Amino acid sequence: LTRGSFPEGFVFGTASAAYQYEGAVKEDGRGQTIWDRFAHTFGKITDFSNADVAVDQYHRFEEDIQLMADMGMDAYRFSIAWSRIYPNGVGQVNQAGIDHYNKLINALLAKGIQPYVTLYHWDLPQALEDKYKGWLDRQIVDDFAAYAETCFRAFGDRVKHWITLNEPHTVAIQGYDAGLQAPGRCSVLLHLYCKAGNSGTEPYIVAHHFILAHAAAADIYRTKYKATQNGQLGIAFDVMWFEPMSNTTVDIEAAKRAQEFQLGWFADPFFFGDYPATMRARVGERLPRFTADEAALVKGALDFVGINHYTTYYTRNNNTNIIGRLLNDTLADTGTVSLPFKNGKPIGDRANSIWLYIVPRGMRSLMNYVRERYNSPPVYITENGMDDSNNPFISIKDALKDSKRIKYHNDYLTDLAASIKEDGCDVRGYFAWSLLDNWEWAAGFSSRFGLYFVDYKDNLKRYPKNSVQWFKALLSSS
Ligand code: GCO
Repeated sequence: LTRGSFPEGFVFGTASAAYQYEGAVKEDGRGQTIWDRFAHTFGKITDFSNADVAVDQYHRFEEDIQLMADMGMDAYRFSIAWSRIYPNGVGQVNQAGIDHYNKLINALLAKGIQPYVTLYHWDLPQALEDKYKGWLDRQIVDDFAAYAETCFRAFGDRVKHWITLNEPHTVAIQGYDAGLQAPGRCSVLLHLYCKAGNSGTEPYIVAHHFILAHAAAADIYRTKYKATQNGQLGIAFDVMWFEPMSNTTVDIEAAKRAQEFQLGWFADPFFFGDYPATMRARVGERLPRFTADEAALVKGALDFVGINHYTTYYTRNNNTNIIGRLLNDTLADTGTVSLPFKNGKPIGDRANSIWLYIVPRGMRSLMNYVRERYNSPPVYITENGMDDSNNPFISIKDALKDSKRIKYHNDYLTDLAASIKEDGCDVRGYFAWSLLDNWEWAAGFSSRFGLYFVDYKDNLKRYPKNSVQWFKALLSSS
């Protein structure tokens, strides 16, 4: 694998998110977010940690940019914390927040690293959650668009790639159904109650508002900024690949359905103006409708498709979940079950996270699916990577030997290159998750996704894992 395995101009970078990296949660006027609240709620985070300090990138961005430059990276994907720009979500702009991101963007450009900026990586200003329940209310669409416009105006002269939203599907399911992520609606304890009460509708409402929010921001960008700034707007979708559990027609159909309920749910409206027909048929009146005006605004509002891809599962048909259907359970809506096992055998090697099985072939299948379903849109892999455990018993020296991670990136990238060169998929770039070990949401610091190791016991010092050397060699090859 060399640079030459990819087309001319193909972009390599690493990805991060504000709440997982920045820390400095009370500095320079930043407002509280739903993740601050969630992380400080007892029992929500497996290791009882929070991200008040995280990996302190707010103060160490210059050092971190040097680490990217050392590897020869072309780009950095990071997110802006909405509550640094608008501490209350709306109203008065906080100039110190603008100043911070200006410094970050300028420091990147000074090293020849292009900023790929996410506007929403899950850290909703708490004020909007308090005011009208955040993403559950239609008002969020206008408030998000206003925040996005402020960012276009402040940074768009230098930022040419915007990712408006990160993983709206994960938020809808984990935040409003499973309750395992902020705002934690439907706690696991209250699961049955919630299923009956609201989790059969809330994920669909929140999803609808995410889609409209992107469309509103894109409309503003295109009418007011595109002509002078000439940037591109996309969304980072979380997309697994689903293989049928067996060769039966029902399982083959189930695997397709699972993908329609995951990527199709969020991407179909942008390409076809509506949700997948399978979803309409199965979710019925709980699935919101787009008015004709909304559909017109949504359709075509994506310039590129961002894909966060990590793993592949087997899917089997499950249309007999009667109780789930009665309770409007979102999984029952899909009529599928997806598992990383078949006949007791795992689909691939497991990383540290219990959900993350290593299946490089899924990358190529997924790229071809996107090409065929959406007629060859430009794609960026906005995240791909694997984690090790935060093992307190091994030395730093041993923790830096991450041959499994090297193999992961090598194998996924090899598959990706084949999808481009052999199958004609239009993939423009690849972002490894992640530059540094960082705060992994509900898993706290128990999971290490970084190319660089962060020493949580000694002043957050960064050490290159072997994968850094591997990327450096790849990026300096021809
Ligand atoms: C996302 C992801 C990341 C995770 C990564 C590893 O929202 O983009 O959840 O923030 O850290 O996917 O799980």
